[in-house]
Amino acid sequence: MDINTKIKLNNGVEIPQLALGTAEIEDGGTVNAVKWAIEAGYRHFDTATYYNTEQGVGDGIAQSGLQRDEVFITTKIWNDDMRQHRVEASFEESLQRLGTDYVDLYLIHWPVAGEFIPTYQIMEKLYEQGRIRAIGVCNFNQHHMEELLQVAKYVPAVNQYETHPKMTQEGLRQYCRDLGIRNEAYSPLGSPRAQLLKTPALVELAEKRGRTPAQIVIRWHLQCGTIVLPKSGNKERIIQNSQVFDFALSAEEMALINGLNENQRIGPDPENFNF
Ligand code: A2P
Repeated sequence: MDINTKIKLNNGVEIPQLALGTAEIEDGGTVNAVKWAIEAGYRHFDTATYYNTEQGVGDGIAQSGLQRDEVFITTKIWNDDMRQHRVEASFEESLQRLGTDYVDLYLIHWPVAGEFIPTYQIMEKLYEQGRIRAIGVCNFNQHHMEELLQVAKYVPAVNQYETHPKMTQEGLRQYCRDLGIRNEAYSPLGSPRAQLLKTPALVELAEKRGRTPAQIVIRWHLQCGTIVLPKSGNKERIIQNSQVFDFALSAEEMALINGLNENQRIGPDPENFNF
């Protein structure tokens, strides 16, 4: 396993397992973050219309000098665009900001009731036209997925949802895995709110292995087979988060981390979000 390790999605498209997350990188910081990440070897960037970082991702990639097909770009359709039935328009705007004519992975950001099925059907058309290489969803619980699968022509390639050692979501993970839907972890470090990286067991393990708690957690995600999207706007931490391919956690260490689960959700709940 190395920074170029890719996972094969259910349509054969290969996705780099480690991505730079770009939610909440402050205005203007994204371009540099993307450039630093590319220098460190990252080739997958996760953005969204809602994050306001599509332009920065596009500019950072352009300034790096890499060819379009050397990077993997994920973006997402926002809830209001779904409600206003402007899926195609929003998709075109995302392409413009990203400075590209296709997206590698296009996701529904939240399962907006009554809207996610017609939205997905338009995404299927864009996929058939070759404008999107793979389609998927975020924040779908099992019942959302069951509803979608009743009409979907293509099984989603991924489901992106909050996952970290305090919120392992093992049931959802297994359900998706059985359907060939790959799991992507957002807030993989528990984001600062959960204080995950200060958990004594993780701090102790990190000291023992001569790593940081963040590196231990990223490595845990990788060994779980999860596509992991740690976000950072800080050069040292972007580099640090990529230095996770020269050690492995033992089965006991993986079990210890799995045992930290408390079903502690830090982000909004897909069952009752109000935006
Ligand atoms: P920063 O951008 O200043 O590096 P998550 O991806 O779980 O939401 O976590 C992202 C948060 O964790 C950001 O606030 C980010 O801050 C911080 N972060 C990212 N990488 C590390 C790291 N290696 N160690 C500590 N904090 C980190």
